[in-house]
Amino acid sequence: MFITFSGETTMSANTSPSASPSASASPSPSPNASASANPTDERPDYSDTRRYEALMDVIGRRMTVRAFDPDYVVPREHHERILEAARHGPSGANSQPWHFIVVTDPELKKNIADYFREEQRARAKLKMKFPTPDYRGLATAPGFIVVVSDFRWVKAFPVLNDGSELDRMYHENAERILLQSVAAATMSAHLAAAALGYNVWWVTAIGQEYAQKAMKPLLGIPQELAVLDIMCFGPPAKPAYKRWKKSLDEIVSWNRFDPSQFKTDAQIDEWVANSRHKVMYRDASNVD
Ligand SMILES: Cc1cc2nc3c(=O)[nH]c(=O)nc-3n(C[C@H](O)[C@H](O)[C@H](O)COP(=O)(O)O)c2cc1C
Repeated sequence: MFITFSGETTMSANTSPSASPSASASPSPSPNASASANPTDERPDYSDTRRYEALMDVIGRRMTVRAFDPDYVVPREHHERILEAARHGPSGANSQPWHFIVVTDPELKKNIADYFREEQRARAKLKMKFPTPDYRGLATAPGFIVVVSDFRWVKAFPVLNDGSELDRMYHENAERILLQSVAAATMSAHLAAAALGYNVWWVTAIGQEYAQKAMKPLLGIPQELAVLDIMCFGPPAKPAYKRWKKSLDEIVSWNRFDPSQFKTDAQIDEWVANSRHKVMYRDASNVD
């Protein structure tokens, strides 16, 4: 059955996505309830910035920490609220190519954390000079969500699937679409965690094939799927600090790319050598 809602035609319950006019703040509304909808054509008051300020407050306070209070237990309802935010994320072709595994078993967390320690050790031998963080905090992170995707979903995006060079280019872009989609949903989850007052940790260091192979059986993840990252959250072990962010002028051009913001290879190398470790591990006021 089809229903018309806010100018869009959607399929209703049982078969596929439906929409409910009621806004819901509860963590587990009916699976396809709409979080917000404006059933009239009335425009909002664009000069009213209160919701923007509230959102910016959450965005500004989202801060990474790499160690959490190990004794804190995240209520199931908070996990659900956080993943409810992810569920509403945009995605290429509305394919929603994501899956989230909530890990609450301390033994599992510890086993996963062991792979990161291994990665840390492997990297040290490779002499990449990357200032690898301390991953011990993973083992006791109160909130622990493994973000999984299935790259076969690139088929949902514009691809030729004929093995041609053109197809290769479209596939490359399709992978970008997939990654952007999962990142968009993941970011919503991080912001929801920040809105609940938690600090967050976005961990990607396990993308390598060998780490994936080793880790997937632990969580029963089919080989076809990929672990993209882990989202940890909870109260911080030590107070969080705000990291350095580029100014708006540095990251925005109007109409045409501002050439003064173009970085040469040498400038990037210099930044990697002299600034990267500071912006990763110091607060913004402490980055010279
Ligand atoms: C895509 C992505 C990958 C990241 N990967 C890691 C990671 O593997 N390990 C880690 O400790 N932090 C990781 N981070 C966290 C960043 O280091 C952190 O966001 C950055 O230093 C800025 O700090 P902030 O989050 O407090 O603004 C990642 C963040 C993003 C968005």
